[in-house]
Amino acid sequence: MIKISISTTKQSSVSVFPLLDGAALTTSGESIKSDSAVANFLAAGEHQGKFGAMRSVYLADERALFIGAGETEKLTLHKLRTLAAKVAQKLNKNSVEQADIYLSELEVSDASLADKVQAMAEGLWLGLYTFDTYQTKEKEAKTELAAIHIIVDGDATQAEQALAAAKAIASGTIFARDLGNEPGNVCTPEYLGDQAAALSHPKLKTTVMDKAAIEKAGFTALLAVNQGSDIEPRFIVMEYNGANNNNAPIALVGKGLTFDAGGISIKPAGQMDEMKFDMCGSAAVLGIFKAVIEMDLPINLLGVIPSTENLLGGSAYKPGDIVTTYKGLTIEVLNTDAEGRVILSDALAYAAEQKPAEIIDFATLTGACVIALGGQATGLMGTSDDIKKSLVQSGQKTHDRVWEMPMFDEYQEQIDSKIADIKNTGGREAGTITAACFLSRFVDGIPWAHLDIAGTAWNMKGTDISPVGGATGAGVRLVMDYLRNKA
Ligand code: BES
Ligand code: MN
Ligand code: ZN
Repeated sequence: MIKISISTTKQSSVSVFPLLDGAALTTSGESIKSDSAVANFLAAGEHQGKFGAMRSVYLADERALFIGAGETEKLTLHKLRTLAAKVAQKLNKNSVEQADIYLSELEVSDASLADKVQAMAEGLWLGLYTFDTYQTKEKEAKTELAAIHIIVDGDATQAEQALAAAKAIASGTIFARDLGNEPGNVCTPEYLGDQAAALSHPKLKTTVMDKAAIEKAGFTALLAVNQGSDIEPRFIVMEYNGANNNNAPIALVGKGLTFDAGGISIKPAGQMDEMKFDMCGSAAVLGIFKAVIEMDLPINLLGVIPSTENLLGGSAYKPGDIVTTYKGLTIEVLNTDAEGRVILSDALAYAAEQKPAEIIDFATLTGACVIALGGQATGLMGTSDDIKKSLVQSGQKTHDRVWEMPMFDEYQEQIDSKIADIKNTGGREAGTITAACFLSRFVDGIPWAHLDIAGTAWNMKGTDISPVGGATGAGVRLVMDYLRNKA
């Protein structure tokens, strides 16, 4: 992560100025408009402040990069985040080593300076994300962007605090992306356990259970899914006592399928490689823990991650099998590819047993959610209107958006089984909802929200703030905002 700092005065010879619709300048731009190069540039009228358009102007001994910000009324924090990402990519591409940016002069309705600085810093860091550790060909030697100074007019202390928060949140997001992007032969359940154990903080205690410990604890549903794999499962428990009291924690549960071939109900070959991302729920939980400990957030958290592969070995669980879960409920397995809910049943039941104040789970749970919402929103379901309402708000603020789907009682009937307590699929109709209905059987009345990140956890095309096609870190910014509001 490059160095980003806050300053109230000019720091370097490259400066980035916003240009509003119709080429309107903000304060800092006004101060250089009498320079002949800038005057000529503006007079030429070819840059009309269109959102994202960029143009460099060379002054006597400095350089100005003008970036279009579009119409003032249409500005949002996410647009600011996106602009910052575009700027970072451009500067890096042009071998600029350091630059000052004046984008916080832009007015965004309902946003404070701190909000703007946070959004900008997130955009800068996330926009520069790369994942190229496996490309062995040496890169052309070039100057890399090393430092950005966010120039603010106003309370630098608040801007500094926002920057520190953005740094923790970006580093948590990047951690989640890295875990997601690692291939399945590297990112195994054991690897996830090691990564969890490596997060260290005086108030954090992490327990990683191996297969023997999982057998002893009785996480039988996780073991059933693991039967088809030659490598061991892991069950990760993280306890963070940041509030320094005995208040019930917020439990975060994440699906950690390090590769989902579907099992005996095997998936088609096309894009099956993408099922290395089936652990992105666990990556979100680990990313959040990383950000929370970096910020020393005064809250209590419980993290629970069940992790395994879903393969087709000779001992694999089969369609028709009946699996007894940790909680004691029995599952009739109709499709071995609906494995996420099976392993989450043990994780949710365990989390509920710890009597947390609430549970939020993250899972790349259903292909149906990708069909319903695409990559633009995470599916939101659950039993607590309070949590859901706050998550919707955090989604709007962070642009890590969620969209609620209903959980009417009638949907529950779709997963009734004739020979066991529940079936692991409810048919094609409302597949995202019936998966959530399945999970609801294991939360024991604890206020709960479920995030189906199947469509948002990765994006093969990439976006401005997630430029490498791959894991996006979905859920980290969302729930960090939620947790900071609680703290
Ligand atoms: N990990 C998948 C869901 C998924 C599919 C996420 C595609 C992202 C993209 C999950 O384990 C799964 O296979 N679900 C099945 C459930 C079905 C068999 C009831 C699905 O969605 O097809
Ligand atoms: Mn599956
Ligand atoms: Zn899966």
